[in-house]
Amino acid sequence: MAGRLAGKVVLLTGAGGGLGSAQARLMAEEGASVMMANLLEDKVIADGLPASGLWDNAQKTAEEIRQSGGKAEVIALDVADEQQWQEVVLATEKTFGKLDVLVNNAGIYYHAGLLEHTTEKFHEIVAVNQLGCLLGMKAAVPAMQRNGGGSIINFASIYGIAGAGTSTAYQSTKGAVRLMTKSASLEFVADNIRINSICPGMFDTNLFESSVPKEAWEPLVDMVPMKRFGKPKEIAYGTVFLASDESSFMTGADLVIDGGYTCP
Ligand SMILES: NC(=O)c1ccc[n+]([C@@H]2O[C@H](COP(=O)([O-])OP(=O)(O)OC[C@H]3O[C@@H](n4cnc5c(N)ncnc54)[C@H](O)[C@@H]3O)[C@@H](O)[C@H]2O)c1
Repeated sequence: MAGRLAGKVVLLTGAGGGLGSAQARLMAEEGASVMMANLLEDKVIADGLPASGLWDNAQKTAEEIRQSGGKAEVIALDVADEQQWQEVVLATEKTFGKLDVLVNNAGIYYHAGLLEHTTEKFHEIVAVNQLGCLLGMKAAVPAMQRNGGGSIINFASIYGIAGAGTSTAYQSTKGAVRLMTKSASLEFVADNIRINSICPGMFDTNLFESSVPKEAWEPLVDMVPMKRFGKPKEIAYGTVFLASDESSFMTGADLVIDGGYTCP
């Protein structure tokens, strides 16, 4: 299939979610073979509603991609489990022959003030957002070294750049993802492996709907200079750019896609 990612093999986590499914679709449209990884069972997000139907959504999206002539498979992965990561990277190589791109997109959110934080919830969010990202890089790098290079895209957030006054735990993980990205990018630059982060602003996905109280939405939109939430495809365009050779001189960088939120 022709396109900006023709011939590339991508492993994408959190593929059943709002931003994940949009990225899977666009990357496949641009010619990539996409291994779509997601939690097998729906997970209850701390203090939020259950993240229901996201595994099923990954399956549905993969089917739609295949019906339009693209290549996509779905695989179960808990990003906090190191053993599963090894198996998923090997399965990607077995199915599609190699690994060119890893998108560490899976994430959970926890909307609460500092005084409501608990040790248990802190460990839970760190395990998915931060450790999950590190384990993904650790599992993917040897496969990319075997392949002569690659591109890793880690999902940070505007809340890894600016404070918000809520969800200090979430912000700590996203700040960490940005610096893990920069550190690892230096470590593997000689292996032709580029590692960048994407920092989304606010996007109306399951993560947002299930965790941010409705009464907080209007004031949040008002804080965005463009006066709207982003559309998942606007993230997917950024992912395609970082995954493709168009970004060949970029590593250790943050791609901020936020409607101007972090400008003031
Ligand atoms: N939506 C936003 O406004 C926003 C803003 C900034 C950053 N982000 C980041 O973008 C990424 C995608 O978020 P989204 O908005 O699409 O959320 P979402 O809830 O729609 O999707 C998240 C996906 O991650 C999966 N997931 C959760 N825990 C997992 C685990 N342990 N292992 C594997 N998969 C797991 C979920 O099943 C789901 O498919 C996240 O890293 C999030 O922090 C989102």
